[in-house]
Amino acid sequence: MLGCLPGGLRRTMESDLRLSDATLAALNEVLAGLNKEKNSEAEDWSLNQFWYTEETTEALLTEAIRASNGGRIAFLSAPSLYFLAQKRLVPNTVHLFEFDDRFACYGDDFTHWDCNNPLNIPESLHHTFDFVFGDPPHLNTETAGSFLQACELLARTPETPIAMITSTTLSDFVCRTMGGRPSIFPVKHKQLANPMTLYLSYESPAMPFDPFYPDYPLRHERCNRRQTDFLDALFLHLSQTSVLHREYLVEMP
Ligand SMILES: C[S@@+](CC[C@H](N)C(=O)[O-])C[C@H]1O[C@@H](n2cnc3c(N)ncnc32)[C@H](O)[C@@H]1O
Repeated sequence: MLGCLPGGLRRTMESDLRLSDATLAALNEVLAGLNKEKNSEAEDWSLNQFWYTEETTEALLTEAIRASNGGRIAFLSAPSLYFLAQKRLVPNTVHLFEFDDRFACYGDDFTHWDCNNPLNIPESLHHTFDFVFGDPPHLNTETAGSFLQACELLARTPETPIAMITSTTLSDFVCRTMGGRPSIFPVKHKQLANPMTLYLSYESPAMPFDPFYPDYPLRHERCNRRQTDFLDALFLHLSQTSVLHREYLVEMP
């Protein structure tokens, strides 16, 4: 146990201190706590925590930094990306939304978040992120939909890139709901064998779209289309009112 202590203290204790049994027990308890804290990045399978391989984590963090363009990054239920961002001391603000309160030790960077209540997010964080990434704990449309709702709430604008990793079997639902397409980037986990896909709402030079998948409209195209629809409706409305107005004028003496 003494091996866990800083070198100076260890030397002092080895040479001239003899601890009572009670003190030694208390010290061991503290050290066990420290070790547990140090281990707080371990997977907890009861929460479906399956971390990516180092290669995948590196590539996804690099993409987050690139796509956020120096802005704020939100990781929803993707702790290993947050851990690496901490280790790399990335210049971006990086925020972790997670159900596992072990990671509350990251202070202001952490928000407790439950995908069963996806919109329960402090208002001060709404529409403040320049890249939003999620990795749901369950591989079904309901959970994927909850994640995408939260992503929409956190994304700064309709152009803000959104990325999500979930089961390959959910491609159609995720692409239609997100306004995205599957990427050919190979997603690899340390302990998980399910086929998983990275879905993107934007075109990434590093992680291209699957060329064999239908070209669903992307999130920003869909928003633009909504704007166009809105303008069309407005012009129609104006033209109709002006027609009415003209008729009214005609009837005037
Ligand atoms: C499949 S793992 C994704 C982890 C990712 N592969 C990584 O390497 O960081 C699912 C994540 O969902 C989190 N989670 C579990 N229950 C949750 C809930 N009710 N709401 C939000 N997140 C939850 C887990 O703690 C875990 O981090």
